[in-house]
Amino acid sequence: MSDINKRLLKTRVINAQGGGTDRINKHHAQGKLTAHERIVLLLDENTFQEIGAFVEHRSNSFGLGQQRIPGDGVVTGYGKIHGRQVYVYAQDFTVLGGSLSETHAAKICRIMDLALKNGAPIIGLNDSGGARIQEGVVSLSGYSEIFFRNTRASGVVPQLSLIMGPCAGGAVYSPALTDFVFMVGDTSYMFVTGPNVVKTVTHEEVTSEDLGGAKTHAERSGVNHFVAENDVECLKKVRSLLTYLPQNAYEEAPRPTVYEFSQEKILRIEAILPANNTLPYDCRKVVDCLVDDDSFFEVQEDYAKNIVVGFARIEGRTIGVVANQPSELAGVLDINASRKAARFVRFCDSFNIPLLILEDVPGFLPGIDQEWNGIITHGAKLLYAFAEATVPRITVITRKAYGGAYCVMNSKSLGADLSFAWPTAEIAVMGAKGAAEIIFKKDILDAADPEMTWKEKELEYAETFTNPYRAAERGIVDDVILPQETRLKLVNGFAMLEKKAENLPMKKHGNIPL
Ligand code: HXC
Repeated sequence: MSDINKRLLKTRVINAQGGGTDRINKHHAQGKLTAHERIVLLLDENTFQEIGAFVEHRSNSFGLGQQRIPGDGVVTGYGKIHGRQVYVYAQDFTVLGGSLSETHAAKICRIMDLALKNGAPIIGLNDSGGARIQEGVVSLSGYSEIFFRNTRASGVVPQLSLIMGPCAGGAVYSPALTDFVFMVGDTSYMFVTGPNVVKTVTHEEVTSEDLGGAKTHAERSGVNHFVAENDVECLKKVRSLLTYLPQNAYEEAPRPTVYEFSQEKILRIEAILPANNTLPYDCRKVVDCLVDDDSFFEVQEDYAKNIVVGFARIEGRTIGVVANQPSELAGVLDINASRKAARFVRFCDSFNIPLLILEDVPGFLPGIDQEWNGIITHGAKLLYAFAEATVPRITVITRKAYGGAYCVMNSKSLGADLSFAWPTAEIAVMGAKGAAEIIFKKDILDAADPEMTWKEKELEYAETFTNPYRAAERGIVDDVILPQETRLKLVNGFAMLEKKAENLPMKKHGNIPL
């Protein structure tokens, strides 16, 4: 090999060293992989093609002139996951703390532009001290360039953010604009203002972990969607998630021809609902009995547990599942559950993923807190998301379907393509006890034995409405089906709806109640 070519190979090795051995060792000691190591694990073997490895920043302020490191703290390029194209950038904390300079931002934007033009997912691995402090406003402008592209790419290609170290200040808004946020436990955190600023302004003392660690965002804020124990697990989860997703809004999700479905689940499903309709059960058991074996991939499992959302497959076809969870708060809809499910429905609709809704909802959560914090607006988000979704939508009412919550949960009149009810379904404006108290108020007050009359009237209302047949008579549900018939109904239903085409009225965009 000629000397000139050998020099290139030598330069490549140096470039790949990022901030140097000492910083890499420090990074490893914290349990973190380097940017290059992460990309290698994320992508299919030998598929990564780096671009921009020679790029350096142009600043001379505050001694930066002496700290020009090729790549400028972010590794960018493209490669394959399960044989499909993806675009990726990984911030390199060993180079100036992975801080974002003008050129660092330009490298990320270039990758995003390529992804958008070529219709493939963008995966960002975040590990950064934020804006490059020495560069000032040009760094901030770089963030805005990224936010602009995140927004323009939203609903066109899937965007995934992995938080694998610090992510603070305005930097958090890029992940927040993307579809799914993954965080690594113990080594990552996200906050707009850190513990020191919090202490100065509000006099609250809090650690970084409690303020913005993976657990906090998984359970309290709902900012993240997936938590991993370490970098390796996080990267594996990303690979798994992508198996459910299409490359862009104009394509379908991949559909494996080989899938398994254990027939014994058909028998098992009937026993899941307790005989007593006030007792809880885990709706994930119902989901499991309906979808291909081991195909349920839950999203935000620790947030707003009263609703369960996630991807699954039916005969290999990706679907999005939204299910009320009777084992948490009796499955009521509240602010957080509405927001969680609405965002998920919007994602599925953006990317042609049909929806299965399993309904067992006693109503909206009452309370001052809920009302003052806007359950009206937040509940409307879910309503809007379903009503606007043009993907195939099938609802199965397993048990309770009461009041406004019945309407919101993809009811037939809200555009569900198919609506089924199990014989255990109770579809009514409200519970029989409350209903009797209101409509038979006079009879109860005038009765010799008000308590007994109330009970009789309650029973009368219950017999009339707490079943699926009134709704079926009016065509508000399409059919009453046995639990064990449900899988087949879904297989046939989603197949029948495969070519569904529905256009919304011409508009710039709707005004979802944000
Ligand atoms: C330039 C930075 C940097 C930054 C870290 N470094 N953050 N350089 N700009 N923002 C450098 C350090 O100087 C150091 O360089 C190396 O990265 C590693 O940093 P350490 O502090 O040694 O690491 P650690 O102890 O692990 O602490 C990590 C950290 C801390 C918590 C992230 O570095 C930190 O607090 N950084 C500043 C965070 C911040 O305030 N950023 C601005 C946020 S505002 P050497 O040469 O020693 O290796 C913002 C606005 C965005 O981002 C707005 C968008 C709209």
